[in-house]
Amino acid sequence: MKVFVYSYRDLEKPCYAGLAESLDVELDFCHDAPSVENAVLAKGAQAVSIVNTPVTKDIIQALYDQGVRYISTRNIGYDHIDMDAAKEIGMSVGNSSYAPNGVAEFSVMLIMMCARNASLIVTDFKKQNYTLNGKMGRLLRDSTVGVIGTGKIGAQVIKILTGFGCKILAYDLYPKDELKDIVEYTDLETLFKNSDIITLHAPSTKENYHLINKETIAMMKDGVIITNTARGSLIDTDALIEGLESGKIAGAGLDVLENETDIYHNNFEGQPAPMEAIAKLNEFPNVVLTPHTAFFTNNALVEMIRNSIITCAAELKGEPNPSKVL
Ligand code: COI
Repeated sequence: MKVFVYSYRDLEKPCYAGLAESLDVELDFCHDAPSVENAVLAKGAQAVSIVNTPVTKDIIQALYDQGVRYISTRNIGYDHIDMDAAKEIGMSVGNSSYAPNGVAEFSVMLIMMCARNASLIVTDFKKQNYTLNGKMGRLLRDSTVGVIGTGKIGAQVIKILTGFGCKILAYDLYPKDELKDIVEYTDLETLFKNSDIITLHAPSTKENYHLINKETIAMMKDGVIITNTARGSLIDTDALIEGLESGKIAGAGLDVLENETDIYHNNFEGQPAPMEAIAKLNEFPNVVLTPHTAFFTNNALVEMIRNSIITCAAELKGEPNPSKVL
């Protein structure tokens, strides 16, 4: 039984230690993301482990032709995989979970950075501008925070936020009983209309594509702060930029952006901004942009890799595989 690992990063080496022996599987690696051209590398493997790079119908077919029957992505979201094509071709797919704390803590950091104008304070300091101009913050204690999506990450964000004493509104298709004492579940419109800060923790689906758009922004409070550590597709970036330009939106903390795939986690140092939206958003002193790093802690890296390989082995051995999504 063999698992082929794509997009292997050298820093991940210790995370794989002992896995092949303990699971009795052969592991082979390459640094590149899967492509039609390099699918041949997976020959002899029944499962591949990948990261969040695009997996198109052609790539799925090419892997299938080499004998691969299971794709495990070493992260939670699987919107980078053409799931309709996988279904049609007969390829099974699984994800890999890790503790929500890293993303949740990062989300709260973005909220705090926006609420306290941290971006402006830090950039001005580097320019030796030590004035207080434009730097007055707001207290979370006095704010209403709207949390969209109360899965594992959203729920952890809520638990952290309770310590600040803010009022918390929440929206989810499946409200959680255990959160009902600390949040008020509402419909989306009520959340949009009453939140001073809106934080996104929903997966990327066809239904919530551009959930934050011109119309929903118009419903929001003047001076709203929006943060997103979930998926870029949840926000219509042009509408967000318009909202920032008009002042309707007072700040945004964005760890994810639409069309980030070939940009984030790569180095463009010394080059012009690789996307117009990045160039535009960078101009706002009240916008914090980070390149999809909320997940990136040592714990998460170990867990996402180990869970991916463990569930590949389970799948190949015909054992229960809780990570299977297709
Ligand atoms: C996820 O786990 O879905 C993430 O967003 C992390 C990243 C490695 C894609």
